[in-house]
Amino acid sequence: MNYGLVCTHCGMRYSNKVQLFRCIKCGSILEVYYKYPSKIKLIGEKITHSRYRNLFPIHGKLFTLGEGGTPLITYKMKGVNLYLKLETYNPTNSFKDRGSSIEISKAKELGFKEVCCASTGNMGLSTATYAERFGIKCYIFISEDANKKKIEKIKKQGAEIIKVEGDFNTALETAELFAKENDVFLCGDYHYRKEGQKTIAYELTEQVNKPLDFIFLPVGNSTLLAAVFKGLEEFKRFNLLEKLPRLVAVQAKGCNPLIKAFNNHIRIRYQHPKTIADAIAVGYPTFGFEGLKSLKKTSGIAVSVKDGELLSAKKKLAMVGIFAEPGGAAAFSGFLKLYKKHPAYLKNKNVACIITGNNE
Ligand code: F0G
Repeated sequence: MNYGLVCTHCGMRYSNKVQLFRCIKCGSILEVYYKYPSKIKLIGEKITHSRYRNLFPIHGKLFTLGEGGTPLITYKMKGVNLYLKLETYNPTNSFKDRGSSIEISKAKELGFKEVCCASTGNMGLSTATYAERFGIKCYIFISEDANKKKIEKIKKQGAEIIKVEGDFNTALETAELFAKENDVFLCGDYHYRKEGQKTIAYELTEQVNKPLDFIFLPVGNSTLLAAVFKGLEEFKRFNLLEKLPRLVAVQAKGCNPLIKAFNNHIRIRYQHPKTIADAIAVGYPTFGFEGLKSLKKTSGIAVSVKDGELLSAKKKLAMVGIFAEPGGAAAFSGFLKLYKKHPAYLKNKNVACIITGNNE
């Protein structure tokens, strides 16, 4: 689709030819905007990532490893129609593959030979895997104390690992500087990844095939939250969805800057991450502002869960053969908390939880 870039904060517009990831004027994160046609053609019958190709900002070939088209299953819960979207079935076991397909396709389209990315682990593994498979050199910036198993998996994909003293946000700053100084394509929680990840919303809409009341999802950088909101809005624009579900953001109590900001009506403030959910240990979310907007516009809810609650949700999932890391089980954990605390909220509702990853 024809597109341009726009600053999420000051609204400054840029051509799609520029290789920018932040606004030159105010430094905020950018977003893809489209000149939407009145109708959209979805491709083929089967639900796959490439079915939504006409909703991507890709002009050349779409590089894919078969991401998307993940299973949606029902989970027995009294008084609620609960669906679980199993993103652990993606090629590198997390929803990140949807975004990597778009980012690597864009990097190839623009002729880049190298990419870099800051990550808590899963996004690094996904980016490294796609880069390796499609002949691009990859640098992953990761905090020293990141999950060791994830670092090993990334190494196996041939990526160069740069360990950074500090947390994810320090790794992010370092990767942005590296990309700028070395003319390397910057992957990560920026506008192109968001475009790939919005397909979860399309798939949920098509698979559930009845109006969803709530979608629970975990928040780290808040790209997933902003992406799901964008996907829902787009389907509504094309009359493929009647009403927007309420979005429920879930963070670990030891790292919940977005939840605090939403519930206390304050600005997002950096919080030093302290949680076992390493995937979502992000002290300051890149797409935080967009995430808050997504919650406000859908009469959303923000829930914090303790590490113990994450572990018990993970265990509950394992009992029915669904395996997720703590961050990957966060949406379900948030659901269980709300179900217990405010059962009336969810009574007879159609609810989806996104189970996002399993790479611990
Ligand atoms: N679930 C998993 C398994 C993740 O790995 C992440 C983010 C999220 C949820 C949250 O998504 O950041 O878009 O709000 N992981 C990033 C990474 C930060 O580097 O792998 P988000």
